[in-house]
Amino acid sequence: MNPGSKCRTCRQPAIIDLPRHNANFCAEHFLELCRRQVIKAIEHWKLLERDDKILVAVSGGKDSLAVWDLLIELGYQADGLYVGLGIGDYSDVSGDYARRFAADRGLKLIEISLRGEYGYDIPTAAKATRRVPCSACGLSKRHLFDKAALDGGYTALVTGHNLDDEAAVLLGNTMRWEIDYLARQLPKLEARDGFPKKVKPLVRLTERETAAWCVVRGIDYLVDECPIAAGNKHLGYKATLNAMEAESSGSKAAFYLNFVERMAPLLAGHLKDDREALRECEQCGSPTSGDVCAFCRLVATASAHERVPVELIMRGRR
Ligand code: AMP
Ligand code: FES
Ligand code: ZN
Ligand code: ZN
Repeated sequence: MNPGSKCRTCRQPAIIDLPRHNANFCAEHFLELCRRQVIKAIEHWKLLERDDKILVAVSGGKDSLAVWDLLIELGYQADGLYVGLGIGDYSDVSGDYARRFAADRGLKLIEISLRGEYGYDIPTAAKATRRVPCSACGLSKRHLFDKAALDGGYTALVTGHNLDDEAAVLLGNTMRWEIDYLARQLPKLEARDGFPKKVKPLVRLTERETAAWCVVRGIDYLVDECPIAAGNKHLGYKATLNAMEAESSGSKAAFYLNFVERMAPLLAGHLKDDREALRECEQCGSPTSGDVCAFCRLVATASAHERVPVELIMRGRR
């Protein structure tokens, strides 16, 4: 940002430049822009109703704390959910950030510990399944988010996925023409038997913007990225999109937002309707296409495996 840059709205000194909006903003008007983007997403895609009972999945990172903060500020009723994944110090510290945010504001935070309640952690699950850690991590999170939302009587599950996350997943799915995943890659998935409504109110904000929201609002968040996700494909897609964005600002937002507006409706008819085939997992009652759901199978495999320290997984990935 050039020294002496002025806020587009009030002409006071700017604190951030947003080339995508071709403008600079002071702290106050930057926050206003973020609020407007979130309200626009909520209204345009009908993500939330005023009387929704919301559960926000919070990791202790910038995005999930920002979305929780924004929803409370906008007058929604929202509790938090933190899942302790057992990824060494990273998980201990991330839990502290989530707890501190909730305690400082008098908000309710539900906590689930994989090791405490299901007898495994992500490094051990990765070793036991011989797959990348993000695979067991994603499966565990999805299952526990759904279960916590349904058990708690919540009508909406919110995650902090931002524009960079969604554009990166979209690029990955497009590179492989994963039609079924593409058809589901929406800011809102409606509730259906055994699954809560899931929404992503931050998809119009980039990760630089959610980080700036936290800094301006004085929210302490865990800056470190997950130590065992380093080098995964998702991060590569983000870097590719950032290189394109540097050449042509606005291209990342156009890629994702135009997909949702123009392409996703064309794919809707191609979504495999697996509802017919779904039945209840014999062990936990969750919807599944087999006898036992993927989560219960993961628990069985991972909890029977000798505990694996996080350092071993990190070494193994280098
Ligand atoms: P990730 O899958 O790490 O990209 O995170 C995507 C979203 O999932 C975050 O913005 C959070 O809303 C949620 N999330 C990630 N990790 C956790 C966690 N340990 N506990 C609760 N929510 C989480
Ligand atoms: Fe899931 Fe790192 S947070 S693998
Ligand atoms: Zn201003
Ligand atoms: Zn199950």
